[in-house]
Amino acid sequence: MGADMKEFDVIIVGAGMAGLRAAIDSVKRDQRVAVITKVHPLRSHSVTASGGVNAVLDKPQKTKDDPFSGDSIDMHLQDTIACGHYFSDTAAVETLVNRGPGMIKELERWGCLFSRTKDNKIAQRMMGASSKPRTVYSADKTGHVMMNTLYEQCVRLRQNKPSQLQFFEEWFVLKLLVINNTTAGVIAMQIATGKIEIFTAKAVIWATGGIGRVYGRTSNPLTNSGWGVAIPLYAGALLKDMEFIQFHPTQLSGSHILITEAARGEGAVLVNRKGERFLEAYDDSKKDKELSPRDIISRNIRREILAGRGVNASCVHLDMRGLGTKKIKTRLPGVQELCKTYTGLDPARHLIPVTPGQHYTIGGIHTNEKAETNIHGLFAAGECACAGVHGANRMGGNSLLEALVFGKIASESANRYIAHKPVKTLKSNFFENACFEEENKINYLLSHNGHFRVAEIRDKMHEIMDEHVSIYRDGMGLVNAAKAIKDLKNKYNNDLLVDGPDRRANYGLIEAIELKGSLDIADIIIHAALKRNESIGVHFRNDFPVYKNRSRHSLSKINKGKIKIRYIPVKSKNKLLKTISAGTILVKK
Ligand code: FUM
Repeated sequence: MGADMKEFDVIIVGAGMAGLRAAIDSVKRDQRVAVITKVHPLRSHSVTASGGVNAVLDKPQKTKDDPFSGDSIDMHLQDTIACGHYFSDTAAVETLVNRGPGMIKELERWGCLFSRTKDNKIAQRMMGASSKPRTVYSADKTGHVMMNTLYEQCVRLRQNKPSQLQFFEEWFVLKLLVINNTTAGVIAMQIATGKIEIFTAKAVIWATGGIGRVYGRTSNPLTNSGWGVAIPLYAGALLKDMEFIQFHPTQLSGSHILITEAARGEGAVLVNRKGERFLEAYDDSKKDKELSPRDIISRNIRREILAGRGVNASCVHLDMRGLGTKKIKTRLPGVQELCKTYTGLDPARHLIPVTPGQHYTIGGIHTNEKAETNIHGLFAAGECACAGVHGANRMGGNSLLEALVFGKIASESANRYIAHKPVKTLKSNFFENACFEEENKINYLLSHNGHFRVAEIRDKMHEIMDEHVSIYRDGMGLVNAAKAIKDLKNKYNNDLLVDGPDRRANYGLIEAIELKGSLDIADIIIHAALKRNESIGVHFRNDFPVYKNRSRHSLSKINKGKIKIRYIPVKSKNKLLKTISAGTILVKK
C-alpha cells in the first residue's frame, strides 16, 4: 500500500477555539492526540473574534442605583433563548451558561489577558440582546488573546508529553472514514508535498468552523469554504438548521471586514443619510436600538436602504464619534486600525460606512448537548456543529463560549466513548480502497482539462447566495438559486479546469476540492430555506412572513447526490412564540 498509516486515540480536525480546547482536555486524559489543521492554529478564524465572550462571573447584589447589577446564570439562559426566538434546545443552553464561568476563570488562570476594571476585576461590557454587561473582553482582540492562551497550553503540554500531542499543520483532510456508522479516522494530504496519509483513531472530534465563504459578502476568512462541514456530510453526518445563517449588521462597506458589535455596546450609533438614528423608527428596534438582536438590526438596515435613506445603495453609517478618542483607543483599537487601513477614515472623527453581511453559521453538524453526532465515535463542537444553543438567532458573545464549552465536552464524550469502545481490527483493504479513491479523485482533478476555472464557478455561487439567500428570501428567488447551483455543479463535475499539474503546494487543487463542498453546502442551505415556509429569527421569507409555531429543526443529508430533509422537534422548555412581531413583515425586496 502506498500511503502511510498513523495511529492515534483521538483525532481533532480543526485547530480553532473548539479544537484547541478539545486537544488540551484529551491530552490531560492521557489520550494520544493528533490535531490536523489546514492552517497554523493561530491563523484560525477564532483569532479574529473581537467583541468578547459571555459569562456570568460575579453575581453582585442588585442595587437600586445600578441597573446593570444583579446578573445571573438564569438571566444569561433567558437572554440566549429569547434572542434565539425560543427555538433553542434548552438542555444545550443550560450546559452553555452553567459551564461558561468556569471556562473563563480557567483561561484567566492560564494567563489570558482579559481587560480589567479599575478595581482589577475582569471587565464586562454590553453586547446586543443582553440584559446585563456580561461580555468578557480583551479590548477588541478577544479571540486573538484567548487563542494565544490556548495555544500556549498546547505547547506546554506537548513539551511535557511529546508523544501525546502532535500537530499536523497545513494538512488538508480529504475524507472522514466511517464503517458501519462508526468512525475509523481520516485521510489527509500534506499541502506542501501532496503526500496522502491515513490517520486512524478510536474517536474523531470535528471542529472546522463555519461555512461563511459560500457567500461573497461575509466576514469569514477564505478558509471557511464549507468543505469542513461537507466532509462529515459525505460520510453520513446529519446537518441541522442549515437555513439559519446569521448576518452581522456592521461590516465595513465593500470589504465586509467585521466592525465589532462591541462598538455599539460601547455607545456607537447607526444613522441614515440624514443623520437620523433610524432604529428608533422601527417597532422591533425602537426599545433597544443599537443593542437589539442582530437579525432585527440587519433587517432594519436593509429596510432603511430599500426606503432610499441609506448613505448609498448599500450602506448606512456607524457613528462612533461620541465615544471619544480615549475610549476608542483603549477599548476598540482594532476597529480604529481597521477603519484607518481599509477606508482611510478615523472613527474618532469620521462616520464609518457599514452594511450587513454573512457572519455566522447557526446550523451545522447535528449534535446533542454532549457533542455527539449520529455517527458513533464522531463528535463535533464550535461553529461547525449545531447543538441547538443559538435557536433561530445567535446572541453576540455566545460563539466563543460555545466553542470553549463544547470543545471540552466533545473531548469528555470522546474519552467516555473510547473507554467503552470494543476493540475491532479493521481490514487493511478498507483503508487501501479509501486511499485509492482519494488518489483517483485528485488525479482526475489535475488531469481534467475543462473550461471553467474554480474562481469563475465560485464567484457565480457567491452572487447567487448574496442575491437570493440573504437577509430576505422568497420562494421564487430560492428556486432560481437552486437551479443556478445545479448548473454550477454540472460545470464543476464535467467541465472544470484546475491550474497546475502538480499536487505539491497546489492551492488551486485545494480550492478545487473545497469548491465541491461549497456547492453542496450552498445547495443544502437553499433547499432547507425553501422548505421552511415560515419566518423566524435570521430566516425571513417575504412570501411567508409569519412564524407557524411548528418549532422544529431541519435535518439534511445527501443520499446518492440527492438532498433529503426531515424535521425533529425543538427540545424547548419555554413557551413558544405565536408569531413574529408585526413590524418585521412589511418590507419585501
Ligand atoms: O461583533 C462581534 O464582535 C462579534 C461577536 C460574535 O459574533 O459573537
